[in-house]
Amino acid sequence: MKDLVGKVAFVTGAASGIGLGIATALAQAGVKVMLCDIEKDALDTAVAGLKRTNADVEGVVADVSLKEALQTGADATMARFGRVDILVNNAGVGGGGNYGTWSDGGWNWVIGVNLLSVVWGFEIFGPLIERQGPGGHIVSTASIAGLVAATNPAYDATKYAVVALSEGLRITLAERGIGVSVLCPGLIRTNIMNSTRNIPSRFDVKVVAPPTEGPIADFIKAFSSALEAGIDPLYVGELVREGIENDWPYIFTDTQFEPAVEARFANIKAGFDRIRDRVPRH
Ligand SMILES: NC(=O)c1ccc[n+]([C@@H]2O[C@H](COP(=O)([O-])OP(=O)(O)OC[C@H]3O[C@@H](n4cnc5c(N)ncnc54)[C@H](O)[C@@H]3O)[C@@H](O)[C@H]2O)c1
Repeated sequence: MKDLVGKVAFVTGAASGIGLGIATALAQAGVKVMLCDIEKDALDTAVAGLKRTNADVEGVVADVSLKEALQTGADATMARFGRVDILVNNAGVGGGGNYGTWSDGGWNWVIGVNLLSVVWGFEIFGPLIERQGPGGHIVSTASIAGLVAATNPAYDATKYAVVALSEGLRITLAERGIGVSVLCPGLIRTNIMNSTRNIPSRFDVKVVAPPTEGPIADFIKAFSSALEAGIDPLYVGELVREGIENDWPYIFTDTQFEPAVEARFANIKAGFDRIRDRVPRH
């Protein structure tokens, strides 16, 4: 999509962090933006802040882990702007816990917000974008953790799934004039370490205070510091705008974890090499 001026975008998780960065960058490029978030106060503040810059934006409160809430967000967008050209499936949470501390509620929460909302985003917004055409774009926020598994199994599993969905649907939707990108950020300065602030009560997740000493405490401290020193979300938003304009399949924010991705690819290749000369038994 080369000309973004006057286009309409729907951005989930837009009240904070990367989502707000994307909403801001798109608004600055002349896109009308419907900001969607579960957190009303933060959303009101974000929308008011953008309106002060004369951006044409609106907010809709929705818990994207509920399909009907996302549908309400789509309806509100059509009612306010009359069309939608860009979907950004960005809302996401860090949770689920380390092996040994899992709960079904924790897995369901992370799968609901990080994965099912993306599935439903494609399902609900794809036809709306296609109907009005010509062209459109869908960006979904995965993570570098969607390419290299790290320490949080539920999070990593959902992010791998978002990469898979995006790679597959990029082929399917290209025929319909809709570009598909997956955003795989590295370490970005956001509020993700405080994701439990937004757990919908129906998931029945017991929030336990993290340990203050020991290896887990050390990891949390180091990871929090790394995020605080991380990349500015508005810069990520500008990369996403560029990715939409140029139909990038993968939008990365930096090269910090490129060696880890290369090591994974080398490991996969070694798996093929191990059986390369064998004749399959049918
Ligand atoms: N921060 C990073 O370093 C980093 C790295 C890789 C990927 N990501 C991904 O970026 C995305 C944005 O996260 P962030 O880092 O900006 O964190 P953030 O906590 O600052 O922003 C996430 C936003 O999503 C909203 N949200 C949470 N649950 C929701 C729900 N059920 N319905 C609607 N909105 C909901 C929150 O209220 C918040 O405004 C996530 O998908 C995250 O996994 C972040």
